Amino acid sequence: MMPEKTRDITAEEAAEKIAALSAEIDKHNLLYHGKDAPEISDAAYDALFRELQMLEAEFPELIKEGSPTQKVGALTDSSGFSKVKHLAGMLSLSNVFSDEEVTDFLARVRRFLNLPEGEQVAVFAEPKIDGLSCSLLYEDGKLVTAATRGDGETGEDITANVKTLKNIPQELPADAPQKIEIRGEIYIRKDDFLKLNEAQAAERGKIFANPRNAAAGSLRQLDVAVTAKRPLKIFTYALGYCSAPIADTQEGVAKKLASWGFPVTENARLCNSLEDILGYYEETQSLRGELPYDIDGIVYKVNRLDLQERLGFVSRAPRWATAHKFPAEQAETVLEKISIQVGRTGTLTPVAELSPVNVGGVIVSRATLHNEDEIKRKDVRAGDHVIIQRAGDVIPQVVRVDLSKRTEGLKEFTFPDTCPECGSPAVRKDGEVARRCTGGLYCPAQAVERLKHFVSKAAFDIDGLGAKIVQEFWDEDFIKTPADIFRLPQRTDMDLENREGWGALSVKNLFAAIEQKRVISLDRFIYALGIRQVGQATAKRLAIAYTSLESWIEAMEKAQDRESEDYAALLNIEDIGAAVAEDILAFFADAHQRAILDDLAAVLTVEDYVSNADMSSPVAGKTVVFTGKLETMGRSEAKAKAESLGAKVAGSVSAKTDYVICGADAGSKRKKAEELGVRILSEQEWATLISG
Ligand code: IVH
Repeated sequence: MMPEKTRDITAEEAAEKIAALSAEIDKHNLLYHGKDAPEISDAAYDALFRELQMLEAEFPELIKEGSPTQKVGALTDSSGFSKVKHLAGMLSLSNVFSDEEVTDFLARVRRFLNLPEGEQVAVFAEPKIDGLSCSLLYEDGKLVTAATRGDGETGEDITANVKTLKNIPQELPADAPQKIEIRGEIYIRKDDFLKLNEAQAAERGKIFANPRNAAAGSLRQLDVAVTAKRPLKIFTYALGYCSAPIADTQEGVAKKLASWGFPVTENARLCNSLEDILGYYEETQSLRGELPYDIDGIVYKVNRLDLQERLGFVSRAPRWATAHKFPAEQAETVLEKISIQVGRTGTLTPVAELSPVNVGGVIVSRATLHNEDEIKRKDVRAGDHVIIQRAGDVIPQVVRVDLSKRTEGLKEFTFPDTCPECGSPAVRKDGEVARRCTGGLYCPAQAVERLKHFVSKAAFDIDGLGAKIVQEFWDEDFIKTPADIFRLPQRTDMDLENREGWGALSVKNLFAAIEQKRVISLDRFIYALGIRQVGQATAKRLAIAYTSLESWIEAMEKAQDRESEDYAALLNIEDIGAAVAEDILAFFADAHQRAILDDLAAVLTVEDYVSNADMSSPVAGKTVVFTGKLETMGRSEAKAKAESLGAKVAGSVSAKTDYVICGADAGSKRKKAEELGVRILSEQEWATLISG
């Protein structure tokens, strides 16, 4: 809206008024975004804002760069923190829960590095701190930025807050690299947590559920004075970007960080065998209760940094590290009823509705029963006493029934054969455990779950449009298909501003957040479609293989013919087998899904996939196949290396293959390459080619 000219005042008076209004609006922005505690109504806020706009329109020469009217774009992030891009991505860790899985982890590492059976890789083991990860960037020895993990690529700037922590060095000694990112975990000690909650109770403040939540709430404060009063501490345990090496091993990194004055995880140990590792795990677990801070497992890291480099990453987790979680906490309660939930792909999941029970500090009232076989196997019935288990953030599970407490007359559960949401038949295919609703997008449960997936963090991740709001908008018929989200800003009939919990500002922010996601990367877009069996990793592989939305769609249409080259090419993509291919093609064959896809493509800009591989290498864009036993590296390492150089690694040889790299005892693939006249390279020739 264009503000009108209203009154005549002098430039001096205007300058004073503009400064006062700006300060006032900034204060309310902070109260609203940062503290969730607005002091004035949205209408009053809007009036202030309009007044400022009018004055600035009258006296444009008085508009300051930092004026609230100039920051509207930046307000799209409702958190109030600005964003920072990490120099090196902040990854998550894969998890293992048993001794066997630890053995598998070590075996995988050995296989990847092509080490002989029996050769041990030294592993640096340390407690996994239950806090919030943080990245500290030092430049020329000075702490310049501190950031939260965020989505791993970009985090929130919490520099001012982190500078209040007493145990973080503000400066590094002269021998430190010019630029270095130091990673660690910010936490609150158990005794400090209890004291903090007592103080909060006395001041009628927020009571925190556990030390981790207290740390999170204390760190993400827009008012740094509040953070400064909270007992936050840090342990550092890894590096991100580093302009010069500071050690050869993980142990060396820890020692160096400690020598610079950083607190490093206590009781860490270098382990040289599986026995060492498992012994350390047991020991630390028995210490768990006595430690002054919460830990939720052990992290194992391959000690040599050169091996870490070779091992690299898969999806968002390093191959060179894993977290061995402590067993879940358990508790007993009464199962009141079994209900059925219908998921995004139509799977009917039985859910145990429980008498609320405290499991390791969290109140649990629902737990998953997985599927119908599981209910039979465990013989779970409504009215039973059951043991509930909770591990980390995963959904609590029913472990078993306490049969000694079973009363007479409890009935066995009959699994429904129709969908409780839409009444369509629910069928179970041969060989599958899941029973699925056949209603497709006609089924409201499936449709709304699909929408929730669409806006989830790894998909469109629209600020202010979480699962709860999606459900609400669905119930009100505002959003029925994904494309409806992008039509929300044009709708005039919603009167969103006047709905409870909304106001002019939050609506403005939501619409700005939606606009921001109108341009999306191809891999996120594919993932967001929610095709069965197409997770983040598969979506990325499809994006790499087809590069643009148009060529992916075209190829999938042609691949409907199972005799076509396009079908063969789809199957040739790493990790896409016949079952996944069928799910992808079924998606394209379904008229309803196609309509949703086309509708979306019309309102969005889907960016072509841009690889961050080294496209200047001599094998960039080439299709290669590895076969036979490789001598110098494991098969996965060879593939990872080729992909990092921009090559596409295929599983079988076709006329489109550029090189077949043959190790010892190469068989049918070599023969096929010879028949088709595809170039065959020895491992040595390949090494020479990629180094040149
Ligand atoms: S190493 C490449 N060491 O656990 C990953 N992480 O669940 C480097 N964490 O995001 C992480 N204690 O925030 C590492 N001793 C420790 C840790 C630790 C806690 C956190 C970290 C990570 C998360 C993964």
